Amino acid sequence: MSIQRPKGTQDLLPGVIEKWQDLEQHIRTICREYGYEEIRTPIFEATELFQRGVGETTDIVNKEMYTFLDKGDRSVTLRPEGTASVCRAYVENKLYGGQLPVKLFYMGPMFRYERPQAGRFRQFHQFGVEVLGADKPIVDAEVITLVWDLYTRLGLKGLEVHVNSVGCPTCRAVHRTKLQEFLAPRREQLCKDCQDRFERNPMRILDCKNPTCQEITQGAPTTLDTLCPDCSEHFQELKELLTAAGVSFKVDPRLVRGLDYYRKTAFEVLVENIGAQSAICGGGRYDGLVEQVGGPQTPGIGFAMGMERVLAALQVSNPLNNLTKKEFVRFVALGEEAQKKCFTFVSQLRRKGIPASIDLLGRSLKAQLKTADKAQARYAAIIGEDEMNRQVVILRDLTLGEQTELPFAEAEEELIQKYREEQ
Ligand code: HAM
Repeated sequence: MSIQRPKGTQDLLPGVIEKWQDLEQHIRTICREYGYEEIRTPIFEATELFQRGVGETTDIVNKEMYTFLDKGDRSVTLRPEGTASVCRAYVENKLYGGQLPVKLFYMGPMFRYERPQAGRFRQFHQFGVEVLGADKPIVDAEVITLVWDLYTRLGLKGLEVHVNSVGCPTCRAVHRTKLQEFLAPRREQLCKDCQDRFERNPMRILDCKNPTCQEITQGAPTTLDTLCPDCSEHFQELKELLTAAGVSFKVDPRLVRGLDYYRKTAFEVLVENIGAQSAICGGGRYDGLVEQVGGPQTPGIGFAMGMERVLAALQVSNPLNNLTKKEFVRFVALGEEAQKKCFTFVSQLRRKGIPASIDLLGRSLKAQLKTADKAQARYAAIIGEDEMNRQVVILRDLTLGEQTELPFAEAEEELIQKYREEQ
């Protein structure tokens, strides 16, 4: 029996990986423009980090973590998200000692033991940003605008940005009491998960997908109803800044997010057409999390987006947006001498950054030309015995079907020129 990949994981093969690389390129470019620097943290961490950071009442910590004992009997966990790790790294490396705020981004695999379905994997990839050391609403506005600008550049259609304020511990306590009072008479009718949440984390009942719970929570007090003056002002200013930046958004009082660390701002970006898993980005403010993992009092805000879901949404909303770069020139050689000459050309061109290739299997002229077509090369550069004698290369434009002859001495320069014109 052949061995198969674990359930909920994917092999990203050539043909698809180019789209990933392009997405990563767009991400790197926008992060540079916005002044965010990259951070890479370990794929596994001490289990306690996520228990303390993500929170004991969350589905992630309760049901979804890949946790195991290593050979030294330490409990370690494959990271289910990046925020707790970034906060740990911020504290451990004393990043708070430098210029504030610290603006970081990361990309990489995350692991959650969830039931796999379209858009939901056990190993998936997130791009995320975290800003540490700044508490003003302008920071919240900057990170949301970054997401908006990235999605706009990618050409994503059908986007909805949902924003909410989940308040701070002070106003949350008021909300908790009011919500429990509202739900108490029908507590027994809530789904089993929500009955558990009633004491542990009642706010999460507001975004339960169970139809009965949704019906019961109709008209329930939301966090917006009980915001304290400080949280209310913060939210008001955020909305004004987003409007000023041209970001379309919708206030969604039922958006509560599935992680425990949020304070004040919470937001999500949803996209239509990719099925049930429509959240392509989620984030919010987490003042208090750095202290939770042993650091000094530090405000923080960030988001993470599921890269698989963004690519799926791009596939639907912008199928013509073929970001993939094609091979530029494929050398086709006939005979040993010609092959050497072609190899010299290919090596020189590659050193100048031009995507060039050559047959590695000693195939026939016909087969080599067929491969050039298949690879969607822009040009085929052909050298046979006759061309060797005349010191020329035949350059065939594979899009237009035209061909010209170039002297060896001019071929390299001419190809570089053509490549630059097309970029
Ligand atoms: P999250 O909402 O758990 O937030 O995940 C963020 C995004 O990751 C989701 O919106 C979704 O696009 C993607 N995602 C989550 N689980 C899966 C899965 N099983 N398969 C595919 N994609 C998935 C966080 O992780 C927070 N750390 C975000 C954050 C950063 N908040 C502040 N800073």
